[in-house]
Amino acid sequence: MMRTRPLKVALLGCGVVGSEVARIMTTHADDLAARIGAPVELAGVAVRRPDKVREGIDPALVTTDATALVKRGDLDIVVEVIGGIEPARTLITTAFEHGASVVSANKALLAQDGAALHAAAEEHGKDLYYEAAVAGAIPLIRPLRESLAGDKVNRVLGIVNGTTNFILDKMDSTGAGYQEALDEATALGYAEADPTADVEGFDAAAKAAILAGIAFHTRVRLDDVYREGMTEVTAADFASAREMGCTIKLLAICERAEDGASVTARVHPAMIPLSHPLASVRGAYNAVFVESDASGQLMFYGPGAGGSPTASAVLGDLVAVGRNRLGGTTGPGESAYAALPVSPMGEVVTRYHISLDVADKPGVLAQVATVFAEHGVSIDTVRQQGKDGEASLVVVTHRASDAALGGTVEALRKLDTVRGVASIMRVEGE
Ligand code: HSE
Repeated sequence: MMRTRPLKVALLGCGVVGSEVARIMTTHADDLAARIGAPVELAGVAVRRPDKVREGIDPALVTTDATALVKRGDLDIVVEVIGGIEPARTLITTAFEHGASVVSANKALLAQDGAALHAAAEEHGKDLYYEAAVAGAIPLIRPLRESLAGDKVNRVLGIVNGTTNFILDKMDSTGAGYQEALDEATALGYAEADPTADVEGFDAAAKAAILAGIAFHTRVRLDDVYREGMTEVTAADFASAREMGCTIKLLAICERAEDGASVTARVHPAMIPLSHPLASVRGAYNAVFVESDASGQLMFYGPGAGGSPTASAVLGDLVAVGRNRLGGTTGPGESAYAALPVSPMGEVVTRYHISLDVADKPGVLAQVATVFAEHGVSIDTVRQQGKDGEASLVVVTHRASDAALGGTVEALRKLDTVRGVASIMRVEGE
């Protein structure tokens, strides 16, 4: 039966995502009411620029005083889409203190302070939902938190940043360099004026922390995630990748160690075989592979950013939280009971593709091979192209620890015959 008293919703932020949330709340009001069991009323919208015209939003609802809005005391749900750490963190905890549940799209905040926010939600008996924080419209948080709650997730591997996937895809398909591809992404609105968060991997690292935490029932914070951006990837790397039947993607990889006693989370560019489903994720799309004991491999694919896709995830949470509210209950909170240690990057084991510029003379290959052997790194293939007494040597290894590979590269740099280490790239997805 439909309840007549509406659920009151406050919106913190009315930018690209917030305005879409407000629009869909209005245009789909009847369907949302039927699905939740009560109408949903937009009770206030906190913005930074009150004079901006916002189509479809009653100007009387607009305020610059977000704190007063979340302290009203009659709100059922606060939707936080302003991003960043503060004032979002204080507004969310204040909302809990004043009786509201929270739906957030704030990956940076969840990755940094997820545990404290979950504790605040629990203390006040409220919900904290954040499907929109990772990979836009793609359902990932709820499948990991609920659908796979009976399984054992061993690996989450994915493309969780659309901007960088657009740039890498452009480099792959046109032979463009990094800067040229970034300029195009900026001109088309995929990259922000300051692209640092995307291209240096901070955005993906925050998402990796959230995914790893939920997948492994363990607290994983942003600082636990090893991170390398993709600004150093070159057209030559793509040419090398192609010769191996691979492409290059910026991957977020969360893994449970083989002995099950620890986990790792990392973000870096990596070569993956063209036959891997992630290789065919083009443009600004996202895709995430989840590998679990019982389910096997699952792949989640779709638009990972943008106003409307992100609003879809926010509204899904709004419906879920609204239903909980009417039922006088809350959904699942933080599950961190496993408390597995997060291992450092040195313990990660994977394959490597190393390009060296070397002198082309007798004994050089043997010298290089000896350095690999001395560090316990087994060579899979070696390819050499020589010209005018110099050569480019490409070594692909079998699986080795990052620490062993690091030691190998340090020793290689000390050889007189090695002019330079042109690139080091991990090889994943095999
Ligand atoms: N900037 C992100 C991306 C979207 O390019 O995927 C928000 O996380």
